Amino acid sequence: MREPPGGSGVAGATWALIAAAGAGERLRIDRPKAFAPLAGRPLLAESLERLDACPWVDAVVVAAPAGWEEPAILLSEELATTKVVSCVTGGESRTESVRAALAEVPDEALVVLVHDAARPLVDDALVERVLEPLSGGFDGAVPVLPVSDTLKRVDGGVVVETVSRDGLARAQTPQGFLAPVLRRALEGDLAEATDCASLVERIGGRVAAVDGDPRLLKVTTPEDLAIVEALRRPA
Ligand code: CTP
Ligand code: MG
Repeated sequence: MREPPGGSGVAGATWALIAAAGAGERLRIDRPKAFAPLAGRPLLAESLERLDACPWVDAVVVAAPAGWEEPAILLSEELATTKVVSCVTGGESRTESVRAALAEVPDEALVVLVHDAARPLVDDALVERVLEPLSGGFDGAVPVLPVSDTLKRVDGGVVVETVSRDGLARAQTPQGFLAPVLRRALEGDLAEATDCASLVERIGGRVAAVDGDPRLLKVTTPEDLAIVEALRRPA
């Protein structure tokens, strides 16, 4: 196997943080989204298993919802993971959850991948694409998909304007960052952010956009669960 991009051969160089601490309010079930059933297992099992098995990943940290740390650890044991270093209690916001997980990453780490448990179908090829720019002068990298629908700005049920799609893309996870840059981006008083790249952009970091994967759909509503389950089945 060739050396992982972004890696220097340093043991524990690349850490993956799984943000799994959200409530999943829009899913409307009796437990947090990370424990929603997907193909008979908790949703978290899918990304946990895939990142644990990913050759580009050296260590994994999970941010679990308060009160769900124990089930997350048990799940990790059931999956016989070998890279899961710890499971922390997430915070009020996604950013706070990522910050809690990042606190577990040692100073020697070179690269940190931040992934949403809500995107179960992550694969090695995508992780490789995200890591590549980090050894080429970028501070971060984000997988993106083109926007295919026409975009409208709507206010109170009325179309205000049609927004040009030019240059717009949809960001997915995992997003990859040089570890010191992500640390700096997460310092101080944090505004609410829906991804980590926006925080890195805010401190002037250079973030690359790489090809995302339509299968990396984010589970938000009950319908999404059914779609992801179908996408998961081998063709
Ligand atoms: N997340 C997190 N900690 C939070 C909020 C969100 O770790 N306090 C994680 C979620 O677990 C998810 C990802 O961030 O994997 C993206 O968030 P989202 O899709 O909004 O999930 P939820 O916040 O759980 O869902 P909802 O907004 O419907 O409550
Ligand atoms: Mg949310």
